[in-house]
Amino acid sequence: MFYDPRENARPAPLTHNPLNALIAPRPIGWIGSVSATGDVNLAPFSYFTAVSAEPAVVVVAPNEKPGGGPKDTLANVREVGEFTVSIVSEPLALAMNETSRVAARGVNEFELARLIAAPSRLVRPPRVAAARAALECQVWDIVALPSTAGGRGSHLVIGTVVGIHIDDALIVGGRVDTVALAPVARLGYFDYSVVTETFEMKRPD
Ligand SMILES: Cc1cc2nc3c(=O)[nH]c(=O)nc-3n(C[C@H](O)[C@H](O)[C@H](O)COP(=O)(O)O)c2cc1C
Repeated sequence: MFYDPRENARPAPLTHNPLNALIAPRPIGWIGSVSATGDVNLAPFSYFTAVSAEPAVVVVAPNEKPGGGPKDTLANVREVGEFTVSIVSEPLALAMNETSRVAARGVNEFELARLIAAPSRLVRPPRVAAARAALECQVWDIVALPSTAGGRGSHLVIGTVVGIHIDDALIVGGRVDTVALAPVARLGYFDYSVVTETFEMKRPD
């Protein structure tokens, strides 16, 4: 089949928007942020990735709340200009999901999911203490994305990475052991995947 998603996001026989299943797996950015008044927030975003290693730059795309208005993460990074990204390893998957609840601004999802918040070194938002790796980021830019036909907006938050935490036990022979990190990835629908095996393929000369 072929279709223009601007006209109809899920034409028959599709029952759901397939883009999440086609652009998969997606890493999950578990974003810690704080408001100008110091309220701490934590939420997962799979429209998240690194776009450059040197310079170290990541992006995350919060869309609007279903009822309209910015999600707390976007409101906070606009106010404070900093965020953290905690990596979701398999044992943290349930807690990550818990922090995706729609909660009033000011609700601390670290507490909601019984997670310990570890202080960051260079930015105000904390990170997930149990995460085996985390990034400290400063906002570089925030770009408004096109709205849906229904008027739902979305933004791209671009962040420069100013600090990287890695559990020393993950470093084997100078490299991060990805299978030991066991990062959880988002697929389509309510599906997830975990990296349990890798293979190496060197580039041609
Ligand atoms: C695995 C996962 C990935 C998600 N990815 C996104 C995303 O990329 N963009 C988005 O706007 N919401 C995403 N969500 C939903 C947000 O986590 C949810 O709206 C959350 O309540 C936002 O919290 P906040 O208002 O505290 O920022 C995702 C949820 C889950 C469970």
